[in-house]
Amino acid sequence: MCGIVGYIGPRDAVEFLVMGLHRLEYRGYDSSGVATITPDGRFALVKTAGRISQLEKRLADTPAPGSVGIGHTRWATHGNPSDENAHPHFGGDGELAVVHNGVIENYRAIKQRLENEGYVFQSATDSEVIAHLIDSCLKRQPPVEDMAAADFGPLVGAVQLALAQLRGTYGLVVLFHQWPEVLIAARLGSPLIVGVGDNEHFIASDASPLAGFTDKIVYLADNELAVVTASELRVIHRDQGQVNHNVHVLDFQAADVAKGGFDHFMLKEIFEQPEAVENVLRGRLDHDAATSKFGGFNLTPQQLRALNRIIMTACGTSWHAGLVGEYQIETLARLPVEVEYASELRYSNPPIDNGTLVIAITQSGETADTLAALREMQRKGCPVLGICNVVGSTIPQETDGGFYLRAGPEIGVASTKAFTSQCTLLAMLALYFGRLRHLSFSAGKQIIAELQDLPDKVRQSLKHNDQVRSIAEKYAKCNNFLYLGRQFNFPTALEGALKLKEISYIHAEGYPAAEMKHGPIALVDKNTPSVFIMPRGQVYDKVMSNLQEIKARGGPVIAVVCEGDTEAAELADDIIEIPAVEEYLQPIITVIPLQLLAYHIAVVRGCDVDKPRNLAKSVTVA
Ligand code: G6P
Repeated sequence: MCGIVGYIGPRDAVEFLVMGLHRLEYRGYDSSGVATITPDGRFALVKTAGRISQLEKRLADTPAPGSVGIGHTRWATHGNPSDENAHPHFGGDGELAVVHNGVIENYRAIKQRLENEGYVFQSATDSEVIAHLIDSCLKRQPPVEDMAAADFGPLVGAVQLALAQLRGTYGLVVLFHQWPEVLIAARLGSPLIVGVGDNEHFIASDASPLAGFTDKIVYLADNELAVVTASELRVIHRDQGQVNHNVHVLDFQAADVAKGGFDHFMLKEIFEQPEAVENVLRGRLDHDAATSKFGGFNLTPQQLRALNRIIMTACGTSWHAGLVGEYQIETLARLPVEVEYASELRYSNPPIDNGTLVIAITQSGETADTLAALREMQRKGCPVLGICNVVGSTIPQETDGGFYLRAGPEIGVASTKAFTSQCTLLAMLALYFGRLRHLSFSAGKQIIAELQDLPDKVRQSLKHNDQVRSIAEKYAKCNNFLYLGRQFNFPTALEGALKLKEISYIHAEGYPAAEMKHGPIALVDKNTPSVFIMPRGQVYDKVMSNLQEIKARGGPVIAVVCEGDTEAAELADDIIEIPAVEEYLQPIITVIPLQLLAYHIAVVRGCDVDKPRNLAKSVTVA
């Protein structure tokens, strides 16, 4: 949930570190810090509670010069957000400094032992334990005069000894006071990337800080440790010793991680959805066979044909996409689908048979519960596929196969383009499974044509942005909202309500429209708007009756309807029009005005849209 950066090379390290922390701030933003070794050999440590802008102010008063350094932005787990709990943490008497992502489960026992050895702790974090532990291991290493000539062996040995004692997860970087010519990074369960430059190296917990600096990146795998100097990168595996590392090409530019003229990343990402949907479709429609095609199944059509059940698992918005996928696959492929919260699935021990396929859906590829759930299902012998956006993240590395969304970096904490891309990919999977079963060639052709029209329909929906903004201004003071939809648009109702909660802190509930009679209707009054998601379709008349039930009780109604729907326009207080689209694709279109509504309400209420309170973009703690 936190962000890590590191730099070694000819530049002023802090410039890269602070820029990198800004780009990583979406991962956690309650405190931050940097440490460098100054040209005269001192440790400069500057850290503070609050946002990166606060850190910049501190750095203006207390500069941290030097061409090697580490930095961190934090989402608190152990210990409140404070200057002391911010990273980096010193080990020993300032012999080294550590930044850490993840959770150390056995930190209490280690802390006790280190305190008995005489170590004094400054913070309440589990991370400080790592710093002192490495120092204590370092003191047991044989002294070496020329560390570089010894390949930094004693430093590596000390870090390895310390890591062997940790239970939990880590992505970490260590900076040594006496040896500014090296950084040591290591990972287990928390991502870490090394960017390879010209006589310089960059380290980061995801690729976004590297864009514009280098396009050559190395993903560290679990149990790997990197010894990084300006000119050299060595990767050492815990069990295999030194291993060759593959250099990948970073597939996005600095512009992808900048706001590009929009006020917020969230708005930029909402407006990127036509291209995101185009990208997820690209190359995956097989016109000749009237189906979709995927490179990543790693299962034969025969194995896929033999499936009798799919379990989808995810968290948050990705879970909502899973619900959309359930309707799509059950409708188009007549294949039973269950959608489970990953945090529940990992402990629920459901009965599994040989025909069960698990699909883990995740934007970040790092969500701890999703990872744990997929591991549990693999333990039970299920094939697990992943649907993921972040290339090279942990979940795609652990699944048996899967598909990337290609939506580009999603920085806003509230997920938008990942959701529409996930729903589009799931529609393509529904087509594929349908064609393996009963769907005819002509039905497949028809679906392909509808999928191809999708980016334009997304584009058309975005044209109503100004109108949505005025509706937002009208209702921004309300403190409760209901979101109501049925069938394919029930998940959209959940997603619309989640968007509003996340970024505007307004209480909102998503409900199947008819079910609201069994409780939520008691909330309806003139200050509680109901957002009806009611494009034309098989349940349109039913939803219309639900709308009338709300109107009869004096509740204001905002209705998301198909263009030209005069019937709904007469009854609703406000309408937002969307282009007509087949039912199994409706969530991809109907969610767009709901994203915009949440966005504009949050802006009117003065909320920090991209970094809402208490949340983080990827939840890497379970
Ligand atoms: C966090 C984010 C949500 C996201 C969820 C699942 O809660 O704030 O936007 O939907 O995690 O994340 P994932 O990366 O697995 O899709």
